Amino acid sequence: MKDKSHLDSEQRLAVLQPEQTLRRIGLKEGDVLCDIGAGTGVFTVPAAKMTTNTIYALDVDQEMLDIIAGKAAKEKMTNIELLKVTEDDTGIARGSLDIALMSTVLHHIDDQPKYLQKVRDMLKPNGTVAIIEFHKRETEKGPSLDRKIASENLAELLGMIRFNVTEIFDLGPDLYCIVAKKNG
Ligand SMILES: C[S@@+](CC[C@H](N)C(=O)[O-])C[C@H]1O[C@@H](n2cnc3c(N)ncnc32)[C@H](O)[C@@H]1O
Repeated sequence: MKDKSHLDSEQRLAVLQPEQTLRRIGLKEGDVLCDIGAGTGVFTVPAAKMTTNTIYALDVDQEMLDIIAGKAAKEKMTNIELLKVTEDDTGIARGSLDIALMSTVLHHIDDQPKYLQKVRDMLKPNGTVAIIEFHKRETEKGPSLDRKIASENLAELLGMIRFNVTEIFDLGPDLYCIVAKKNG
């Protein structure tokens, strides 16, 4: 089994500030959020405490989903839905989400324009996508430089597939979060 403990490290949580970041991207009571590439549930679990509606946690790795299931059971949470997915099949119905979150996941995706179009389809009209990625520069941690996505390139791509970028903010020195609304 690969070591997944770094995802939950105190240092990483201090940078991501999950609750504060979820509030900043607009999560509120009643919303349906999908945590795409949820990992160990760093965002899934706090999100499920901020809305009584469904939080979908998607991952290609069953071990990750099992970790989230364990956390949800421990906290007696009943509004988390776990889905094992592939890049081609997310299992989420069209027009069903208020917010789609991808935290340090997009750089794993091969066909990013096609995938983001699919994310767009999953959102309700006026739905929000929030993407956390590494700045495209050498960093101690994170993917290789060639896998990193510059924030300006991502903003341009989102514009091309009819999202309006509303905010870009930093999370610590290495990460940024880009927030965009489905346009039309
Ligand atoms: C670096 S981890 C981030 C986990 C979590 N979002 C966080 O920020 O703590 C990336 C996760 O994305 C998952 N992943 C990679 N490709 C994926 C895909 N096409 N669909 C869903 N999950 C994917 C991996 O299995 C892994 O759990």
